Amino acid sequence: MVKIAPSILNADFSQLSAQVGQVVEAGADWIHLDIMDGHFVPNITFGPFIVEGIRKITDRPLDAHLMIENADFYIEDFKNAGADIITVHYEACTHLWRTIEKIHSLGIKAGVTLNPATPVALLEPVLPLIDMVLVMTVEPGYGGQKFIPTMTQKIEYLHRYKLAHGLSFDIEVDGGIDISTAPVVVKAGATVLVVGTFIFRNENITNALNTIRSAVNAIKKTNFNFK
Ligand code: DX5
Ligand code: ZN
Repeated sequence: MVKIAPSILNADFSQLSAQVGQVVEAGADWIHLDIMDGHFVPNITFGPFIVEGIRKITDRPLDAHLMIENADFYIEDFKNAGADIITVHYEACTHLWRTIEKIHSLGIKAGVTLNPATPVALLEPVLPLIDMVLVMTVEPGYGGQKFIPTMTQKIEYLHRYKLAHGLSFDIEVDGGIDISTAPVVVKAGATVLVVGTFIFRNENITNALNTIRSAVNAIKKTNFNFK
């Protein structure tokens, strides 16, 4: 089943607890947390203390997307704050193999993500090691951006690679996912959809999440080469 991971980046932070509760109630599989440091990306968001707060209000897996420099320095803090999955940027890690091993040594899942201009083949050496690849379908840093259609080729490449090598890592997509782009990326092989603006900027959060779920469920398995 395709998982839906609402991103709280565009949530109303004055109502964060209520809004997280609403998406959990509506069936969100994970909660996606966009961590930004103002260096790797222009925007600054939040750190481990917000993750700690969210940990207290839900038991759903917390999916931390680190858009930060020196991720190694902060991994343990985010794990201790309650992150279940930590995804680092290929472009921000000098020693990516060691970073992945460090995340796993803490007993949580490791993901790697790529900016739109980074070739997906660069990840091949670590694909057998990781639990998830996050394909950025926008430039990281802001919610509400336009989906980049050519990123679908990366999703297809990863899906084919998984089948050819008997791997089972998740393929998460992030940025511009809405009612029209969700079916496109699922047909290409995406298994986790990060959805921010479409859900949290909708006056009815529950309906918005259900709309994405129905759009994905409506895709017949026969429409694409899933096993
Ligand atoms: C962008 C973040 C995305 C974003 C969600 O750097 O990684 O998670 O908040 O994107 P939208 O709002 O387009 O769903
Ligand atoms: Zn994200």
